[in-house]
Amino acid sequence: MSLDAYIAGLPKAELHLHIEGSLEPELMFELAQRNGVAIPFDSVEAVRAAYDFSNLQDFLDIYYAGANVLLTRRDFEDLAFAYFRRAAADNVRHAEIFFDPQTHTDRGVPFGVVAEGLIAGMDRAKAELGVTSGLILSFLRHLSEAEAFATLEMARPYLHHFVGVGLDSSEVGHPPSKFQRVFAAARELGLKLCAHAGEEGPPAYVHEALDLLHIDRMDHGNRSMEDEALVERLVAEQMTLTVCPLSNLKLCVVKDLKDHPVPEMLRRGLHVTLNSDDPAYFGGYVNENYRQLAAAVGLTREQVTQMARNSFEGSFMSEAEKAARV
Ligand code: ADE
Ligand code: ZN
Repeated sequence: MSLDAYIAGLPKAELHLHIEGSLEPELMFELAQRNGVAIPFDSVEAVRAAYDFSNLQDFLDIYYAGANVLLTRRDFEDLAFAYFRRAAADNVRHAEIFFDPQTHTDRGVPFGVVAEGLIAGMDRAKAELGVTSGLILSFLRHLSEAEAFATLEMARPYLHHFVGVGLDSSEVGHPPSKFQRVFAAARELGLKLCAHAGEEGPPAYVHEALDLLHIDRMDHGNRSMEDEALVERLVAEQMTLTVCPLSNLKLCVVKDLKDHPVPEMLRRGLHVTLNSDDPAYFGGYVNENYRQLAAAVGLTREQVTQMARNSFEGSFMSEAEKAARV
């Protein structure tokens, strides 16, 4: 069996997926039409042609603009279910998905519309596709601590639907320390904690995510490799890293997939998982991330198997649920 076929057949969990980043241009057009929202593109091809990014901020500007077509509960349900259908085709059996409530509440879309729509999509995914999932409320780090607290307050009626909180958006200039108190409050509410760290930001931000936020899982983590003591600590703690190869390529975190740090991360004993981040914008869902990385750096079947196993182990499922699935 080819490695590609082996990858396709492996059961996987996806732990780093922004649901707004799974908005395919076709659905963007459909929702724009349905909701009477103008978008600055006249075809699906024109949208795809605009997805040429030099860095994270370039991408974020387009990604937040794309989210403008999402207005109703049904839009969010359709968005979520479309992702789960695509993920199920990649044999993703469990997904823990980020959503950015502030992207929507700041446009006047009520928190409940977003949350209830996504939860409806997740419920359908379980019933119709057998894919289980969890929802992670992600704070936008370019906004203030006060706005993050206000978002956590809006989330209160829905808390039992969330498995954790995250921290995303523009990293440089917005260190984890800015959100230390919000993360402590989220922990008090019983939520798991994760944060994007070391995608573009320096190793010092990774240290802050560990020491000040006390995260349970790290999103990206690439630049940890610049700090030997940090690598040793992440190995000792068996911190799960949710690495996203095609995202790293499209956002110029790496120049070429051949330069991707995953082989070195695995060699050092880091608990690495592979994920798609914003697949509609970066050109591939989870299997494509495995395949293209494997082709570029020469991953073995054992390494691929290890990362798929890590994805279940690093999930926020209970130990009993994990034991039944790893
Ligand atoms: N929001 C969506 N994708 C992101 C990424 N890769 N980094 C930071 N914020 C994001
Ligand atoms: Zn991300």
